[in-house]
Amino acid sequence: ITGKPDSVLALPTGATPIGMYMELIKKKLDFSRITVFNLGEYYPISKKNNQSNYYLLNDGFLSKTNIKRENVYILDGETQQPDEECKGFDEKISLAGGIDLIILGIGVNGHIAFNEPAEKLTLDTHLCDLTARTIEEHAKYFGSDETVPHKSMTMGMGTIFAAKRILLLANGLNKADAVAQIFSGEITTSNPATLLNLHHDVTIIADKEAASKI
Ligand code: PGA
Repeated sequence: ITGKPDSVLALPTGATPIGMYMELIKKKLDFSRITVFNLGEYYPISKKNNQSNYYLLNDGFLSKTNIKRENVYILDGETQQPDEECKGFDEKISLAGGIDLIILGIGVNGHIAFNEPAEKLTLDTHLCDLTARTIEEHAKYFGSDETVPHKSMTMGMGTIFAAKRILLLANGLNKADAVAQIFSGEITTSNPATLLNLHHDVTIIADKEAASKI
């Protein structure tokens, strides 16, 4: 942000990045020329829902910086046309000049953004079904499995891999297996994070627990 004040960032939500956002807010950096895209959004979900990525990113970070509203692009969980919304998102990223830095969390199953383990992964931003494991994992945020939306819009693997730099953050023992697989020497679509081995500029920051099985 200091080195390239007009950076295009792609930012996560969830529990993992909360500390990072608190640190960034404390530093009082100048975000006035920064552009932000989010990684994904549950579908359907109201922007007012305090578990929507829209709400979490705004409440936990954006509203506490001097980032300009017109430079923020968050997938709209209220849209009636999710496919159009996803297509438009990739176009907006291209128009912004591409992503300089994407910051990712990792799911317990190795998902990055909401690219879930599957036989085939999708390149572009798209609407996808969440796996039972992710729904179960995210129930802690929503209160119960039933209230977790079962679909999500997500940046695709191609959108993520087109970023110039990738930073993956991982906290906690429940991420240890997924993180260890990244270092297994194999890549597999059954753990999308393992594909990060194919990108030229990836940094992983993990706490002791998340790194304990490497
Ligand atoms: P978390 O979510 O940071 O809340 O653990 C990460 C993810 O599911 O991608």
